[in-house]
Parts: sequence; C-alpha cells; structure tokens
Amino acid sequence: MQSPLLAKLTGRLGARQALLEWKWMNEAAASAPSKFSLQDMVRRRCFGEPLQYILGTQPFGPLNLLVRPPVLIPRPETEHWVIKLSETIRPTAQNPCRLLDLGTGSGCIPLLLCHLWSPGSVHMHGVDISPHAIHLANENALLSGISTPSDGTTPRDKNTFGTTLASFLIPTFPDELFQIKPPFDVVTSNPPYIPWKEFLELPRSVSDYEDPRSLFGGPSGLEFYEAIARFIGRKGMVSPDGVVALEVGRGQANAVEELIRTTGRVRHTEIWTDPWGVERAVVGRM
Ligand SMILES: C[S@@+](CC[C@H](N)C(=O)[O-])C[C@H]1O[C@@H](n2cnc3c(N)ncnc32)[C@H](O)[C@@H]1O
Repeated sequence: MQSPLLAKLTGRLGARQALLEWKWMNEAAASAPSKFSLQDMVRRRCFGEPLQYILGTQPFGPLNLLVRPPVLIPRPETEHWVIKLSETIRPTAQNPCRLLDLGTGSGCIPLLLCHLWSPGSVHMHGVDISPHAIHLANENALLSGISTPSDGTTPRDKNTFGTTLASFLIPTFPDELFQIKPPFDVVTSNPPYIPWKEFLELPRSVSDYEDPRSLFGGPSGLEFYEAIARFIGRKGMVSPDGVVALEVGRGQANAVEELIRTTGRVRHTEIWTDPWGVERAVVGRM
C-alpha cells in the first residue's frame, strides 16, 4: 500500500516528480535521521518550498553546493554553459587567468570553473550585493576545497576564490575590490534578468523563496547587462584578449549581444543554446 506521505506528495507534484523527490527525501532521511524527517520534508514541499532548500544542497557539475534561502538555487542551464566555457578556455598555471564573477550568489559559476580548470590556473573573485550570498559562496568555497587566502596572496599552485560585498551597478565599481585588481581576463555573470512585468508569472516556489534582488533586471530585464556593458567598455577593466560570458533570459540574447558589441571593445560574439533549445549565454571575445 502507498505511504500516505507519498500520496500527499503525488497530489501536489504528480506521480512522476513525486516518486523522484520521495526517493531523494528517503535518502536524506536515511543519511541524517536527526536532521531530516519525512513528515516535515513532505509538509514543506507541499507548501511550495523548493526541494533544494529542504535538502540544503544542489549538485552543480561534480560539486555538491550548499543552498539556503534567499540565495538563488543554481540552475541546470547555468551548469551547462559553465561546463562549455570550461572546455572553451583553457588557462594554465604558466599563464593563470583572473576571473570576475558579477552577482555570484552561491558562488556556483567560479567554484565550478575553479574545480574544472587545472590547479594554479585561475584566480577568481565573486561580487554580490547580498550578504547572505557572500556568506554562502565562502562556505561553498571551503566545502569545495577552494582556498580563499585572507592575506591577499595568490598561491601559484592553487586556484583561488575570494568575494566582495558590493554592487556592480554603481559607476565607480570595482574600485572597492581589494583582492584582485583589473584588468580581468574573464568576466562571467548570470545577472538578474526577469523583467518586472513577469513577476506575476513566476511560480510561487520561486517568488516566495528566492531573493527578488536575484531575479529582477529592471523594467526591461536588461538593466544589469547595460551596467556590464558600461563596465567592459571602460578602459583597463578587461584584458585585450579577454572573454565575457553572460547568461541571458529567454529572448534576450540578441539584445545582450548588441549591448556588448556597442562597447566597441568586443570583436567577436557567440550565442550558446541550452539543452532545452533556448539561447542561454552570450559569449564575447575582446
Ligand atoms: C540570477 S542570481 C545568480 C546567482 C549565481 N551566479 C547563479 O548563477 O546561481 C543574480 C545574483 O546577483 C546578485 N545581485 C543583484 N543585484 C546586484 C548588484 N547590484 N550588485 C551585485 N550583485 C547583485 C543577487 O544577489 C544574486 O545573487
């Protein structure tokens, strides 16, 4: 006979999704019974809380990252373009690169790249306006074994990741960054890109739990790309042969491509499609 808890979950999620999540919940309950009760997990899930927040982790490539509200849960479409980027650029310890991640959230983008690129080949810095995000990104760095030197040094044999609480919308950005100074060889970002008018279309599991600051990109959804274009257009911010890789929302790729091209600094652009056929990342080469 089906467990009443599974029946409740099925009523909320449908049979296929409920069975999958029931399996993960059972695994969590078996691994840490004092932390996870099936009853509590099913109650929270039926209330609309994302499973990742309930379990507290989300796989991202080979990493298993901590996730906590209100920091954005890393998405599979982000994982896809980040892995592709890791295969497109190949920094080496002899010629290490400096990467800036704008709106780092859980730190998923730089931490996956730190993990995939060879030791000593990259020194990364993540910026976010949310103290919750900065805290979580630092915890994830520790958990992933990525060193975060507090003394400002950059070890030659290790990839490093540091963070700064800052807004990249302010015109003087990145003057306050202390650990890595421009120019950056790679700039990555999955900025907030949902236009305000789409607020009502968001699933409650997103709008009720994830920080609105991580979702909304102004009236048109393009406010953060405009700031990024101004940033890369400034002399000395991105290396002459640098790369900019930006995640975009559905239907935004052409507008973002145009924005970075009009900086006059980007020579070549590409649009990358995600596994669901959506144009998902704009990659520009200086
Ligand atoms: C769409 S989330 C992406 C998070 C993470 N990079 C990922 O891919 O899962 C955007 C992030 O930008 C941050 N953010 C929003 N406004 C910002 C600003 N003005 N300056 C810096 N970060 C900002 C949010 O706090 C959020 O963590």
